[in-house]
Amino acid sequence: MSATSNKMGRMSVPQLRARKGAEPIVCLTAYTTPMAQRLDEHCDLLLVGDSLGMVVYGMESTLAVTVDMMVNHGKAVMRGSKNACVVVDLPFGSYQESKEQAFRTASHIIAETGCAAVKLEGGAEMAETIAFLNARGIPVMAHIGLMPQQVNTMGGFKSQGRGDEAAQKMITDAKAVAKAGAFCVVVEGTVEAVARTITETIDVPTIGIGASVACDGQVLVTEDILGLFSDFTPKFVKRYADLGDAVSKAVGQYADEVRNRQFPADEHCFGIAKKGKLRAV
Ligand code: KIV
Repeated sequence: MSATSNKMGRMSVPQLRARKGAEPIVCLTAYTTPMAQRLDEHCDLLLVGDSLGMVVYGMESTLAVTVDMMVNHGKAVMRGSKNACVVVDLPFGSYQESKEQAFRTASHIIAETGCAAVKLEGGAEMAETIAFLNARGIPVMAHIGLMPQQVNTMGGFKSQGRGDEAAQKMITDAKAVAKAGAFCVVVEGTVEAVARTITETIDVPTIGIGASVACDGQVLVTEDILGLFSDFTPKFVKRYADLGDAVSKAVGQYADEVRNRQFPADEHCFGIAKKGKLRAV
């Protein structure tokens, strides 16, 4: 946990915002209590991302994720953490219609989970909504560039901001969401020069995912870095462990031992006769 965190409680939104240009912000996704317990001491920020639709539920995209799913996983992550700031994603269709709809969804998620802030995808077109939420007590983390909820309009999960026009649009989007009051901006899947320009231009932290070391912090999907999600691995993911292989190996050994009657052994059983006597249970 960073030296600038609030040891008496969770990292707060203003503390994170103040990290602009300072110590890099460490963020990972979390969806469950046991994982949040492991991540909490290392991360400034835990993101209950709608990527859980793909990573936990095996969906092809994030589009079918519901508000109830986000609430349940948000509660689980809050139960498993006490230091990190927890941010919950607004799922597709729960905020784009109007700023009022966004407020209803965001306030419901915050009231139910106790998280500190919400994240929403979108650039200049979401600026009015971000300002509306922010003015009413809901801190917003913006998300620009590769926006998974726009997979159909983008024609796939493709990097963004390539070419002058696209780069300029991303910079304009970043400025718009920062001006609207977003306390930080996730910049996903773009070239280093664009991420660097955005980071140098706006006065709130950028949190990169596939957006180079130029950003003020980094976020990745935890299951990606642990080797627990292998449907596809984006170029920007670094794998720090192969827990998927470890799980397969452990479960294979358990299955063999059950089939060979090696498990359970005496020490895993109640009331096994020892030296001709009944053992106490
Ligand atoms: O849904 C998610 O997990 C995200 C992060 C990967 C940025 O949006």
